Amino acid sequence: MKPTSAPQTYRVKSFGCQMNVYDGERMGELLAERGIVPAPEGEEADLVILNTCHIREKAAEKVYSDIGRLVAAGKEAEAQGGRAPLIAVAGCVAQAEGEEIMARAPAVSIVVGPQAYHRLPEMLDKAQKGERATDTDMPAIAKFDALPQRKKRGPSAFLTVQEGCDKFCTYCVVPYTRGAEISRPFSHLVAEARKLVEAGAKEITLLGQNVNAWAGEDDKGRSVGLGGLIRTLAAIDGLERIRYTTSHPNDMDDDLIAAHGEVAKLMPYLHLPVQAGNDRILKAMNRQHTAESYLKLIERFRAARPDIALSGDFIVGFPGETEAEFQDTLSIVDEVRYAACFSFKYSPRPGTPAATMDGQISAEEMDDRLQRLQQRIAHHQYAFNQASIGKTCQVLVERTGRHPGQWLGKSPWLQSVWFEAPAAIGDLVEVDLAEAGPNSLKGLVRQTVSV
Ligand code: 5AD
Ligand code: SF4
Repeated sequence: MKPTSAPQTYRVKSFGCQMNVYDGERMGELLAERGIVPAPEGEEADLVILNTCHIREKAAEKVYSDIGRLVAAGKEAEAQGGRAPLIAVAGCVAQAEGEEIMARAPAVSIVVGPQAYHRLPEMLDKAQKGERATDTDMPAIAKFDALPQRKKRGPSAFLTVQEGCDKFCTYCVVPYTRGAEISRPFSHLVAEARKLVEAGAKEITLLGQNVNAWAGEDDKGRSVGLGGLIRTLAAIDGLERIRYTTSHPNDMDDDLIAAHGEVAKLMPYLHLPVQAGNDRILKAMNRQHTAESYLKLIERFRAARPDIALSGDFIVGFPGETEAEFQDTLSIVDEVRYAACFSFKYSPRPGTPAATMDGQISAEEMDDRLQRLQQRIAHHQYAFNQASIGKTCQVLVERTGRHPGQWLGKSPWLQSVWFEAPAAIGDLVEVDLAEAGPNSLKGLVRQTVSV
């Protein structure tokens, strides 16, 4: 590799989950400390970070096609007297396939795993000298201590409180790419949340692969779970909304459920994946819960907060899934009446137990099941939106809408709501929900609560 001058601009392209979005922001903050700024919209960056996702095959494939595109654009730039960008691959594909990327893609200068990106600046030094740098160590907690202070962002911010997973669902790569469950300390999280609010955040979404497995000690040395952390964060002036994602049914405790009924700032929304509705499949997935225990849990949330909106993740076509077993997934969707869902075709991941199980389902069958499932999910999402008509709620304004004079924000139930009235990003606007579509609602403004 040729030595190259210091990059002045960067672009982070994050794929996959919200934790990658958070990591991408933090990498940007690290680069900002070196005076490297985001590339202006429409311009090529000197440093491109592909912050990758390994959860499904499609997500992983995108990396190589993106590298190919960057190499071609770089050649063109060089032919015109410009420079080719430095390419870094971060995230879970970097963690899982670092060596392969280095071998397959000579244009890549840096491969950095999700637990090592605090060392990006040193790696950049190496890359500038023309050397290639790989770091896929997993000293999870070191990263956060080495990162700079949070910078100004939009009204809605992410805060990673927990990383990793010990659950080992048989289809999933996360325990291998993100490592074991680890909780960030209480005091660090409270401090980071305060900084985010000082920087303008009105809403904080607490993130973790198993966010409700978070555990720590409060400032009086008492053991607390996620519910306790949420209660403390709710006392921060200027913070208006708290959310958290993604939870595992087995890590739910009484205090977190109770918090939904007691903490006004905790939004009435819960993302609680069930993955499938059939107990044999759930067992083969090593989910460690049944359809019934999941439904009982949902009942408890509804008792604590009757208007809670539920969301879930589903996988169709897990190895050996019969049509009758798939029907159980459709049934659980009907039973829960989700407000929103993510649904995926099973994708065999190298090194996971399910990848070598008998009874892999054909692509056609998976397509068919996914389509039927998504129809059912869409039906309930639309019904949930329609049932919201007539409610009055606050909308946190996130951006301008499609047409001039329109603004777009989120309801407490995480629905997209648009309205036409004078407003600004970050306003909390009180609206009457007047019309519902499958994916958004129209609000009529009552008043702007805070500016
Ligand atoms: N194939 C398809 N979907 C998967 N997910 C995780 N692993 C796989 C896989 N191998 C889905 C699960 C999880 C979400 C983040 O991605 O539904 O909850
Ligand atoms: Fe993957 Fe299961 Fe862990 Fe979720 S709980 S990250 S699906 S192993």
